[in-house]
Amino acid sequence: MDIVCTSEELRLFRTIGDVASALNVSCYLIGGFVRDKILGRPTKDVDIVCTGDGIALAHAVSDTFPHKPHVSFFKTFGTAQFRQNGLDVEFVGARKESYSADSRKPQVEPGTIQDDQLRRDFTINALAISLNESDFGKLIDPFNGMEDLANRIIRTPLAPDATFSDDPLRMMRAIRFATQLHFTILPGVFDSIHNNRERIRIVSQERITDELNKIMAAAKPSVGLDLLFRSALLHEFFPQMTDLSGVEIVEGKGHKDNFYHTLQVIDNTAAKSDNLWLRWAALLHDIGKPATKKFEDGHGWTFHGHEVVGERMTPRIFRQLKLPQNEKMKYVAKLVALHLRPISLTKEDITDSAMRRLLFDAGEELEDLMILCESDITSKNRLKVRRYLENFGLVKQRLKEVEENDKIRSWQPPISGEDIMQIFGLQPSREVGVLKTTIREAILDGLIPNDRNAAYDLLLQKASELNLHPVAGK
Ligand code: CTP
Repeated sequence: MDIVCTSEELRLFRTIGDVASALNVSCYLIGGFVRDKILGRPTKDVDIVCTGDGIALAHAVSDTFPHKPHVSFFKTFGTAQFRQNGLDVEFVGARKESYSADSRKPQVEPGTIQDDQLRRDFTINALAISLNESDFGKLIDPFNGMEDLANRIIRTPLAPDATFSDDPLRMMRAIRFATQLHFTILPGVFDSIHNNRERIRIVSQERITDELNKIMAAAKPSVGLDLLFRSALLHEFFPQMTDLSGVEIVEGKGHKDNFYHTLQVIDNTAAKSDNLWLRWAALLHDIGKPATKKFEDGHGWTFHGHEVVGERMTPRIFRQLKLPQNEKMKYVAKLVALHLRPISLTKEDITDSAMRRLLFDAGEELEDLMILCESDITSKNRLKVRRYLENFGLVKQRLKEVEENDKIRSWQPPISGEDIMQIFGLQPSREVGVLKTTIREAILDGLIPNDRNAAYDLLLQKASELNLHPVAGK
């Protein structure tokens, strides 16, 4: 065997081989498991291909274990799987498969192991290892996948147009593997992605976004995002992002290329955090720039309000990309909205109340916002970056001090909406909101101290302006 397996894995593979031979079929390890084992990457997904009925083999193998792991299977696809000792083991019968031009529905017929390897996506994913008694452990590598693994190359077993036309999601997969594994997509394969880019439209958005998220979760997401852009695949499903690209020059003044700036910000963020949604906030932080771009005479390029436009675009983009419509989306929108705030505090002589306001607005998200904001400091001018980072460090320090004093982040004003309704005998109404905001703003601005008595005095004063009076006994 060319791969290093645990004794548990070896025992499992021997069992599968024995059962297959009793059923008179041949079987092989194939796909990502073989690839990742050779690369020394951790993997728990075992793919087995056999000549014949994969579902029958799965059941027969499961029956050999005392606890008979539950086999789930899909008759239409001829696949079956079970979990055993932390491994996900999937069985499939070797197939010849083709797709009609306008549909994702495969036409399938039984085939040999060679047929099956030929219809796999990449040479590095088509490597098979025999589990049969006669040649247990033998590598079957008809397309020089080992050489491509050694040279770190993504290549298709068939002509790339045929492989991508069979399943256009493979165009995304090529770019995802290149990003995760630091491999190069062979130029002819990359050209084919460019030429076939419109075919991605027949793939469901969920599957596309799955791959996009794997790219976003990689150590350097910019590698994949740049490949998506240069192949023009990105234009097919995420035009708002490609709108960020390009530099316009008026009166000799250009602005930065916001697409490549964004990629830099994502990589900076990725270097500091594994949080996928923080990386999404980095991706979307400037998404409102194209819509707000203006050249102002005597001033240059401006993008006023792009953070507000970006915040509003976020739910639409999440819907379009079939990303979750939940608190993750709200988190990303919030970070997009606030992304300029910390850096604005480096500019002039900033009051404690501006610091308190940011602490209050960012709340739980402050650390992530600071990572995003620090990652947003990009410039070719290293001195400029250093100066910004130093100022930014000072803001961080002051935020820490203000927070230690005032505990604003988990802070609730000393008088709540409920209190106000009770004191004045009010139902939920606009007045309650006005009174609540008055107290909160006065404390955040440092006009009154953060205590109940001071808040109560202010409350009475503001209420009487509104012609409201405490009900008797309060
Ligand atoms: N495969 C394919 N075309 C696809 C998807 C999968 O040819 N569109 C084949 C490849 O041989 C792949 C195997 O099916 O190796 C298993 O697919 P999957 O589990 O999706 O991917 P892995 O290669 O195992 O990689 P990962 O687990 O990182 O997704």
